[in-house]
Amino acid sequence: MNSPILQKARTYEAQYGEAIPASERPVYHLTPWVGWMNDPNGFSFYQGQYHLFYQYYPYKTVWGPMHWGHAVSHDLLRWEYLPAAMAPDMPYDKDGCFSGSAAELPDGRQLLLYTGVCKSEDLNPEGHYYDIQTQCVAVGDGVNYEKIPQNPVLTVKDLPEGYSKYDFRDPKIWQEPDGTYSAVAVARTEDKSGAVILYHSPDGFEWHFVTVLDHCRNEHGRMWECPDFFELDGRYLLLLSPQEMQARDEFHAGHATIYLVGDYDPETHTFRREDVHLADYGIDFYATQTLLAPDGRRIMTAWLQTWSDIEDKPQGAKWFGQMICPRELHLKDGRLIQAPIRELEAARTNRVYHENVSVSQPTTLEGIRGRVADLTVNVAPDGELYRSFTIKMAADGEYYTSLTYDTYTSRLTIDRSHAGSHCDFVHSRSCEVRRQDGALKLRILLDRNSIEVFANDGEQVMTVWLYTPQSADGISFSADGKVKVTAEQYDLSF
Ligand code: FRU
Repeated sequence: MNSPILQKARTYEAQYGEAIPASERPVYHLTPWVGWMNDPNGFSFYQGQYHLFYQYYPYKTVWGPMHWGHAVSHDLLRWEYLPAAMAPDMPYDKDGCFSGSAAELPDGRQLLLYTGVCKSEDLNPEGHYYDIQTQCVAVGDGVNYEKIPQNPVLTVKDLPEGYSKYDFRDPKIWQEPDGTYSAVAVARTEDKSGAVILYHSPDGFEWHFVTVLDHCRNEHGRMWECPDFFELDGRYLLLLSPQEMQARDEFHAGHATIYLVGDYDPETHTFRREDVHLADYGIDFYATQTLLAPDGRRIMTAWLQTWSDIEDKPQGAKWFGQMICPRELHLKDGRLIQAPIRELEAARTNRVYHENVSVSQPTTLEGIRGRVADLTVNVAPDGELYRSFTIKMAADGEYYTSLTYDTYTSRLTIDRSHAGSHCDFVHSRSCEVRRQDGALKLRILLDRNSIEVFANDGEQVMTVWLYTPQSADGISFSADGKVKVTAEQYDLSF
């Protein structure tokens, strides 16, 4: 039975979401049907198609009592909206259905494991009521979901002694080879920073504590959010989105998504962390979630945004928030390698190719332009090593977003200061590219309101949003010194 709160959201989104013209959205990046979107939820393959749910507030382009939006796709690029899956309509989730995940049950139904939020009577130091967070289950057929009578299935009683009941969320479920289920969730420990907890269930309904997989110990941010845990190319990866990171080494201050690489002993449930890195070196990337595709690929999605600059949105926007183009993950030499999903190749049309063009002064190349494109640029020194190389994208007389590689520092910098923002937030970020010879390969995905850059076959990735007029579609190349540029561009059509 759909509650009146869910019914209201479904009626609203069908009316106002449908009214948003396709030309006002990105083409292959999922946006909310209408209103606000944050984290991806329930990213899964179920009954022959991919499902992607999302943190959703349909009524405004601001965060509000969380619903779950829902979309399905056969190729992870063309999405069809389905009616909202859940609304905050039960005593244990009346203040929000927070992030969670999905798994299939033996009887063919789909199970959603999510965080129910309910304001407590306790005031925090800022004078707000604390949220009590518990883990809850809903079961459905891929369109309609029922919250189960046993909810909540995990509460503060299932946390180690001393952990906070106010920060316990974002369960990520997976099915074990023996048909039972495991899940990781985040919680706040006595030292006020995050931890990842492993739970187990014989059937998806009854859950029990197994172990604490890893602790933040105030080293990588404070509270951790949106955990994911899986095997990748023989190692184990714990993906996390920390809040309140401090700038240090390659890490920037604020929100970030990091991965912990290590080994895992399934007998003793021990995760031994070896290394920690950033998952994306751009500005707008948070709250990742992965799925294991039927063909064995580990595919990741994420919110193409962070909490730090949610005020920075275009006037009159009817939607806010988008997902990244899903990425295939691999691990090489202990580092995450990311590639846009291969399904994108089927959407490529109108190839334009320029080989070994000598570039120094700002140069445009015939046919290389656009806001919906898949562009690969190979750069090499033309003679002596150049000092720097720059691509300006989404450019016109007023706007541009630039990507600059400096060979002295080996740093790649993305800069969206001139991409339509009116706020003095961070607009530029850089990362080290591990190449000494000035040879650089950049694959760049453009989609109206975003740019995703994959350097050297996905060794580093940088993601940014942009909200500039679509007429700002120029692309140009320049160098301090001389470079040879080979550029291959495809339009993307769906
Ligand atoms: C991460 C997050 C989650 C939470 C959700 C609420 O972006 O804060 O921890 O479940 O968003 O919308």
